[in-house]
Amino acid sequence: MFAWTKKDLLSLYDLSAEEINHILDTAAEFKKVSERRVKKVPALRGKTVVNFFVEPSTRTRASFELAEKRLSADIINISASTSSLTKGETLLDTAKNIEALQADIIVMRHSAAGAHNFLSNKLKCSIVNAGDGAHSHPTQALLDIFTILEKKGSVEGLNVSIIGDIIHSRVARSNIWGLLKLGANVTIAGPSTLISREFEKIGVRVCDNFREAVENADVVNLLRIQHERQKASYFPSINEYANIFGLNENSVKYLNKDALVMHPGPINRGVELASSIADGSQSVILEQVTNGIAVRMAVLYLVAGAL
Ligand code: CP
Repeated sequence: MFAWTKKDLLSLYDLSAEEINHILDTAAEFKKVSERRVKKVPALRGKTVVNFFVEPSTRTRASFELAEKRLSADIINISASTSSLTKGETLLDTAKNIEALQADIIVMRHSAAGAHNFLSNKLKCSIVNAGDGAHSHPTQALLDIFTILEKKGSVEGLNVSIIGDIIHSRVARSNIWGLLKLGANVTIAGPSTLISREFEKIGVRVCDNFREAVENADVVNLLRIQHERQKASYFPSINEYANIFGLNENSVKYLNKDALVMHPGPINRGVELASSIADGSQSVILEQVTNGIAVRMAVLYLVAGAL
């Protein structure tokens, strides 16, 4: 019987394949709860969870809140714009005050890579990473892998291609760490200014040709161009990017008919992904969103048990 011991979820880089599989197995059990008429269990009754989002979010924030409600936790939501961060309070002071309010778990999104690791060493409560800068977004990668498992039965030996703005993407990094640990073959592709040969050192195939990257792929995960993290112009124009690296009516012919089309959201329709493909039969994008609830229930349940 596997025993979960980590009080925090910071990054998939820190987890073993066994730990990742344990989260996914637990999520499969919680997915059954989400399919019941009464979608609620008392697993976190008496626990307090604070959702502290210092960067914008639609999916992750709503999904964590639903997961917490389905686990019967008490919840507080704090946004950067309405918090005392705007008055000059430090992140550590804000977090210590949240802990002093007897929070058991802080779910945080922050623009600074490493913000969660910093707090994890200073606080006794659990820290769950809902995205830190371009570094890590572990629950997104877990829900992506959970969706692949549901559709393909196994991750080991699958060819997974991640296309787009890799160097600014916490989703890409987290998927790479998780997928490699579970035995997938990972390819990344994008304009040469948005990919890095450094990933070859950890066993990733790096490609600057869309067709080469997606032919033979079992899964194609398209990423948004992260303009908010870019300090320079990385390619001549959005139109050129869409023509060369976008998945559209023209380029979809290079995909296997049974390849899954994934996207973490938000989609820039007509740029990395045409609407007809995003809403088409190969797309599992909304299933990814639904699976996020079960995956986040599993993470919250496991870290709470380790406190
Ligand atoms: N995928 C994702 O993190 O989406 P949000 O930014 O809407 O949370």
